[in-house]
Amino acid sequence: MPLKEIKNNIFYCGLNHRERRLFDELIPLPMGTTYNSYLIKASEKTVLVDTMYPPKSDEFLKKLENAGVDNIDYIVANHGEQDHSGTLPKLIEKFPNAIILTNPKCKEITQEMLHIADEKYQIVEDGEEISLGDKTLKFIYAPWVHWPDTMFTYVKEDNILFTCDFLGSHSPFESIFAVETPELLAGAKRYYAEIMMPFRNFCKKYVQKIREMDIDMILTSHGPIYKSPDFILNAYEKWTSDDVANEVVIPYVSMYESTKEMVDYMCEKLSDKGISVKPFNVVEEDLGDLAMELVEACTVVFGSSMVLAGPHPAAVTAAYLAGILRPKTKFISFIGSYGWGGVLTGKLEEVLSNIKAEKLEPVIIKGKPKKEDFEKLDVLIEEIYQKHKGLGLVK
Ligand code: FEO
Repeated sequence: MPLKEIKNNIFYCGLNHRERRLFDELIPLPMGTTYNSYLIKASEKTVLVDTMYPPKSDEFLKKLENAGVDNIDYIVANHGEQDHSGTLPKLIEKFPNAIILTNPKCKEITQEMLHIADEKYQIVEDGEEISLGDKTLKFIYAPWVHWPDTMFTYVKEDNILFTCDFLGSHSPFESIFAVETPELLAGAKRYYAEIMMPFRNFCKKYVQKIREMDIDMILTSHGPIYKSPDFILNAYEKWTSDDVANEVVIPYVSMYESTKEMVDYMCEKLSDKGISVKPFNVVEEDLGDLAMELVEACTVVFGSSMVLAGPHPAAVTAAYLAGILRPKTKFISFIGSYGWGGVLTGKLEEVLSNIKAEKLEPVIIKGKPKKEDFEKLDVLIEEIYQKHKGLGLVK
């Protein structure tokens, strides 16, 4: 079966993985994902750009075989993580003349993980160009989106850019070109939240660089191809900017409804003040949805019951996830209820230490909330309102 042509002898040879339900054994994938690979048939050389997730190796090799691919001169490894590099050993076994084009860091990583011999690599420098005959590849180092080894590959004659993980989306597709739907935007936001958000400032820099290049088409390693790069570049400019949304996210766990009562009260009163509120039950809901909410929210209030003498483990997990994803949240606080004693906030604050947000006075109460407890919540609610007002988010 022939491969789908994207543009001028550049073909799609990736695979959907609709049934995959967890990424990194952590984040749910409601729609699955894709692993994209591309074949460039230039006048003098044939090049494969990125490879395949190991469990899909056989299907991938069969796809190439069925398409009549009987020679590969170069394999570009834009990134060493195995969902893109994992099939390198099988490829170089099947195509023994193929040389891997990559940067030193990616070589080091793929050698550590895949035990590939030195002579199989050709190092490319940042900005280096390699002629394929009627096409020219240019390599652009782009470390830290999201590993230290990441790079982009530009095809000069076609003005297209392979960005590997960067600007990707957990969005399987039939048509290989992006259809600009809310679902695609959600898949891209989920992807950004989980993979790229900790590297927000690097993302911002590379988005600007790609803007300046005035690229015709962006080809990522997850999700569809962007024929109109503005769709994804506009979204990234919003997500990576320092601007926050007039929104409070409340990830919570409540064992006997007392903490839930506090959450409900905050939701109602904050909404009355014109602030959008997103309560999020961390035991029942998808942590990927929480990650997406953290992308733009101005304030996060963690709610937890006390288990023994500390926060509920589910609250710690949610806070730890927030801590490693490093959202641009400006304000953080805590609410919760205990039965007989303990310290609720210490562990949560510890796992959130990566986030440089201002801490607002927590409200930790004993048992079911009473009148004076709601008054303490009123103080926190008013403080959040004033903080949002100070940023011009509410009138
Ligand atoms: Fe899609 Fe960093 O791997």
